[in-house]
Amino acid sequence: MRVRDLTPDDYVPYRSLTADAFGGTWEDTGPRPFDPGQTAVGIDSAGLPGGVDGVLAAGARIRHDRLALGGGVARSGGIGGLAVHPAHRGGGVFRTLLTGVIARCAEESMAVSMLYPSNPSIYRRCGYQVVARGQRLIVPLVDLQRLPPVPGRHLVPVTAATLPRLHAVYRELTAGDNGMLLREGPLFEQGMPGGGWSALLLQDEAGTDHGYLSWTRSGGEGPGLQVHEILGRTREDRLALLRSLGSWSTVVEEATLRLRTEDPVLDALPGGGARPAPGPVPLVMMRVIDTAATLEARRAPASLRGTIRLVVEDDTVPPGTCRAAGRWLLTAADGRITATPEDTDGDAAELVLGTARLDVHAASLLLVGGRTLADARRLDLGAVADPSAERFLDELLAGPRPSVLDSF
Ligand SMILES: CC(C)(COP(=O)(O)OP(=O)(O)OC[C@H]1O[C@@H](n2cnc3c(N)ncnc32)[C@H](O)[C@@H]1OP(=O)(O)O)[C@@H](O)C(=O)NCCC(=O)NCCS
Repeated sequence: MRVRDLTPDDYVPYRSLTADAFGGTWEDTGPRPFDPGQTAVGIDSAGLPGGVDGVLAAGARIRHDRLALGGGVARSGGIGGLAVHPAHRGGGVFRTLLTGVIARCAEESMAVSMLYPSNPSIYRRCGYQVVARGQRLIVPLVDLQRLPPVPGRHLVPVTAATLPRLHAVYRELTAGDNGMLLREGPLFEQGMPGGGWSALLLQDEAGTDHGYLSWTRSGGEGPGLQVHEILGRTREDRLALLRSLGSWSTVVEEATLRLRTEDPVLDALPGGGARPAPGPVPLVMMRVIDTAATLEARRAPASLRGTIRLVVEDDTVPPGTCRAAGRWLLTAADGRITATPEDTDGDAAELVLGTARLDVHAASLLLVGGRTLADARRLDLGAVADPSAERFLDELLAGPRPSVLDSF
């Protein structure tokens, strides 16, 4: 069973496979390239028991995303549209495909891989770890209507002309997060989203932007406003944006707010009437593909200096599938992180503060930031370290818990 890159000739068999797995209709447009910014991979049905030419036994798409990580930027393989043909299910095709996907992410020099699982346990067996969950709150707008105006701030309509300013604010205000996608082309259209999407920028008197609010006004049942994002530089800025949201209270009773993990908007909501939106909670899983690249993408805290030995063990995929497993000397100095492969215990031993050993589950949880080795142990993941190495790693990885707002 070989996992190979899909070509334009595979477009129709792949669409047929995924429409059958996930529902929906599609047209037989004949061969055509897959969308840019992604690598599609699959396994042929021919060659498997009962297999047929021109049919895919399995397929998946790998998005080429970049995401914010520890003050830096890391390359991420976003996995979507993964399906196994019903004729070939239950025979290990999934594991072969996902192992091939992980290997392909490594070939593309991706540091991590990310996905929204329909069944977390089957991805976990290949080293993916739940690191975040989507969060939506229903907020009564009458609470927001009473917020006082914020002096020195006014709102600016977002049009095709002002949209680049919104993108710039998004980049700036999520740069310190862990996991937020950079939203670059070609995977993200750079023009106005359409479909009823609207937004307002928050500006000061000198014309500097301090945040934005984006939403879609929906009709029918349920909250009449779907708020995609409220990003503000300060708490006052977030209050100014919430106050603007309150101006709909004459026509809409409630809004649904999509929030980041521990979103600072929660600290600005004035009323106690918010409640979780109904429906399933989307989980976000990540997997380390390249331990050194994931660590070196981050910035080290300015005050942190030293070297530890880091050992990562990965028994979920065959050795050499990706670069998650290994031994490194991990050094932080002058705000930079370097991870140098170490073949043996070597003579650097006296310079080393201590050793930290992580299994791939702990590494996938911890290296995307915002958690401690003790958190990993509470989940029964493999994370043991000498006290000084543990302090070093915890300080290096400190920051907000991962958040992802974009689904795929
Ligand atoms: C889910 C799916 C991808 C599994 O493919 P498969 O080739 O049948 O899976 P495999 O035979 O390789 O089994 C892989 C593991 O998953 C487990 N598994 C397979 N289907 C499962 C299911 N529906 N529920 C729970 N576990 C399942 C197997 O027991 C096996 O466990 P193991 O690694 O301990 O041996 C396939 O059923 C499918 O395409 N479903 C529809 C689309 C879908 O759900 N895609 C995933 C979107 S995120």
